[in-house]
Parts: sequence; structure tokens; C-alpha cells
Amino acid sequence: MMVDPVIWDVGYLVSAAMFILGIKRLSSPRTAPQGNRLGAYGMLLAVLITLVKMYTEGIIGYELIISGLAIGTLIGYVMATRVEMTEMPELVALFNGFGGGASALVGLSEVLKRLQNSNVPEPGVELYATWVAIGLSGIVGWVTLTGSLMAMGKLRGGFYIPFTKKDDRGRRKWVRFPTWGPPWMNFVKGAILLACTSLIGLTVHDPHNYDYIYSLVILSCILGVLFVIPIGGADMPVVVSLLNSMSGIAAAFTGFVIGNNVLIIAGSMVGAAGLILTFIMCKAMNRTLIAVLFMSFGGGGRESVTRTKVGSDPEEVAMVCDGITKCVIVPGYGMAVSQAQHAVKEFADLMEAQGVEVSYGIHPVAGRMPGHMNVLLAEASVPYEQLIEMDDINSELTETDVALVIGANDTINPVARSGEGPLGGMPIIDVDKARVVVVIKRSLSVGYAGVDNDLFFEDKTMMLFGDGKKMMNELNGAIKEL
Ligand code: TAP
Repeated sequence: MMVDPVIWDVGYLVSAAMFILGIKRLSSPRTAPQGNRLGAYGMLLAVLITLVKMYTEGIIGYELIISGLAIGTLIGYVMATRVEMTEMPELVALFNGFGGGASALVGLSEVLKRLQNSNVPEPGVELYATWVAIGLSGIVGWVTLTGSLMAMGKLRGGFYIPFTKKDDRGRRKWVRFPTWGPPWMNFVKGAILLACTSLIGLTVHDPHNYDYIYSLVILSCILGVLFVIPIGGADMPVVVSLLNSMSGIAAAFTGFVIGNNVLIIAGSMVGAAGLILTFIMCKAMNRTLIAVLFMSFGGGGRESVTRTKVGSDPEEVAMVCDGITKCVIVPGYGMAVSQAQHAVKEFADLMEAQGVEVSYGIHPVAGRMPGHMNVLLAEASVPYEQLIEMDDINSELTETDVALVIGANDTINPVARSGEGPLGGMPIIDVDKARVVVVIKRSLSVGYAGVDNDLFFEDKTMMLFGDGKKMMNELNGAIKEL
């Protein structure tokens, strides 16, 4: 069946407009859910147009389309409904990897199809442009795939080894994902990158040589692993957003290869948005991208805490909170783990009912994904205007009576000011400037970057040991009983 190709382009234009409007709406928490839906419908439209186009052009049959849609929908549905809120960052990393892998596979299948159909352009601009675009989509796509799988493993912290003996709690042997990278690894990465670009040059001169193509795939996959393995600790948010950007760039290259406009538009948007986020993250961490990518040498490990501190109880903290005028709540990853956001909101309501001024200090990398705390607090109906960014809240902390830290650790660790170690130079929320600091967490153990925190041992700090939600509920109960 012949269809006027303009129809496809008009459809793609509509979906591209939906992406742009969707991104625009993502810029405010109030309109973000709407923006998210608009982007998803835009993507659905683009997928449907592509499938109908391929069907009418006789590229694939009915059965393949329906089975692809069914399998993809099922996997997507199961992942989206089963995933815990705390596992979202790993899922995002996995999706980045899938995006890069899909682009690389499309590029690879295009080159193989052209070779098998003897449809390789004559030496000239067309050959150079197409083969270079396929090569670049391959390098970026495979690096994104293996790099994202590595990042996902690091965010999970490690993995269970199947078939190993279970311990008394029914868990198999757990192996931590390594963070390793001696300085010489930069030379290895440079050499592999050079080899990959040379392979693109070689394929242009000898397009029929399959060895060049498969070597490019293998080297790019190795490069992805080497690229992420030295990066750890507080630099992970930067690498995850960079991989997100790379998945978009790979898609844009692939769109160019297969002549798909919506892929070029959507890929460029993801690439640009991811890059902007990467630089925002770098600024938040007070690091340059070069330093994150080439000056992370792994190691560090997790410090073990040997000091002790006597914990406080909720009644004691409730008494300290009685009669205060200003309270700043600083949430972190532990709030997400314990799903304490509703109990935190209840605490804020109780304080406000007593005339206390309450605000929330939000560190840009608190939790495990950009905007993690904002999403959770919005879910608990915390007013957006009470969510104050790090730089602004820091100027208020000297006049704060109580800073209530719930499940945050690295983002409030004063050791970052020393400029050394895995947290060195990262700006923090200065909770130690408040009159009293209350920290709710289960133990004195370290946070994501594995660094001990002196704040817990200061005289002004009261530790409420226990699960975040449980302790918040007990604190709220104690306040009500006062
Ligand atoms: P972290 O430094 O990771 O500390 C979280 C603390 O929460 C832990 O020390 C843990 O202590 C506590 N916790 C865990 N489960 C808890 C529960 N059920 N109840 C109460 N507390 C619990 O958190 P942060 O301050 O939010 O810092 C984020 C870190 O993650 C930074 O290093 C950042 O660079 C990194 N990171 C961020 C991102 C993004 S984009 N946000 C992505 C990747 C990595 P206990 O075990 O003692 O309870």
C-alpha cells in the first residue's frame, strides 16, 4: 500500500512538538506530571507511526509488530509496577543502557543489511557520511550500554552470586561492584578510543570488512566498562546524567543513519537535556566534568565506624522542638528507603500548628536521582515553596533552632569542606550551623560515598537511631503528647 510520505513527517512533527511541550512543562514541579504524560503520548505516537510506516512499506510483517509491542509492553509494565521507589535510579540507568544498546543495534543491523544487499554507496561523500554516522552511533551506543550496566551495578551496590550457600537470613553471597581505576587506565581508555575512531576510518576505506565492524563493537563495549569503573562515591550522579545524554546522542546518530526525523529530534533533545543536567550536577558537586571522568582513580573503599554515640529518644527530641521558632528539615536517601515523607509532612504540620516556621533544605544530589527528594515530598503534598535549594537554605541555617536530618549523610557531612577524600569539595547543607541538629538514621554507619561523619559525634547533635518512618511516627506521637 502506497502512502504519501508527507503523512509520516506530519505525524513525526506532531510527536516532536509534544516532546518539546512536555519538556517545557517538566521545568516546574506543578506541571511536571502533565509534561511527563505529554512526552509519553508523543513517544507512543512516534512508535505507532513508525510501525504503521514499516508495515505499509512491507519492511516487517504484522506478527512481528504485534509480538514486539506485546513483549515490550509486558516487560515495561512489570518493571514499572514492581520497581520500588528506591530502585528508580537503577531503572533509569538501565533504561539509558537500553536506549544506547537499541541505537547501536539499529546502526549495526543497517550496516549489515547494506552489506548483504550490496547496497554500499560508492566512495564519496554519501559513503563517508553514512559510515561515519553508523560508526559514531555504534561507539556511543555500545559505550552507553556497558557503561550504564556498570553504573546500575554500582547504584545497587553489588549483586548476589547465584547458587552460593545462603546465610541464616536466607541471603546468598553478596559481592560489591568494584570502583577501581589506576591512573594508567586513562591511557588505556585513550588508546581504545583512538583504536575505535581508526576503525571507523578503516571501514570507510574497506566497507566490506566485517572484522573492523565487530572489533568496533567489542572495543566500544570494553570502553564503556573502563569509562565507569573508576567513578564512584559522590560522582555517580554526574556519570548517570552523562550516560543519559549519550543515549540521546546515539539515538540522534542512528536517526541520521536510517533517515528517521523524529529519532534525530528526540535524540538531540535527550542529548542536550542530559548534558545540561550533567553540568548542573558538576556545579552541585563543585567538580569539573574532566575531573569526574579522568581524575577518579577508584579506591577509597568504605570507612568502618568504630566510635560510638549514645542515642536520644523521641520524647527528648519532642521537648527540644517545643517552643522553637524555626526548623529546617533536611531529607536524604534514608527518607526514600523508609518512605517517611508522609510522617515528615505530619511533623511539619505539627510544628506549624505551634507557630514554628518550617522549611526543607534540598541538596541537589540528595537521594539517588536528580529531584528524588522533591518527588517524594510532592507526593506527601509538601508545598513547593517550602522546598529551598542548598545555597538559599545555607544562609538561613545560622538562625535555625532545629535542623532535622532524616536519612541524609553525605550531603551534610562537614568533611566535604576539607577538600579531601571522596566527598572533597562537594558543597553541603550546613546543618552543623543550626543550634541543635537531630539526625534520624538506623546507625552511625557511612552514606553512599563511604565516609565517616563527624557531625554525628558533635555535642549539639542528637541521634535518633531507627528506621526513618518509625522514628518520625514516634517523634510525632511524642510531640502530640506534650
Ligand atoms: P547517603 O549519604 O547515601 O546516606 C543515606 C543514609 O540513610 C545512610 O547513611 C543510612 O544510614 C540512612 N538510611 C538508610 N536506610 C534508612 C532507613 N530505613 N531509615 C533511616 N535511615 C536510613 O544519602 P544522601 O545524604 O542523600 O546523599 C546522597 C549520596 O548518593 C551522595 O553521595 C550522592 O552523590 C550519591 N548519589 C546521588 C545520586 C543523585 S542523582 N541524587 C545518584 C547516585 C549517587 P543507616 O544505614 O545508619 O540507616
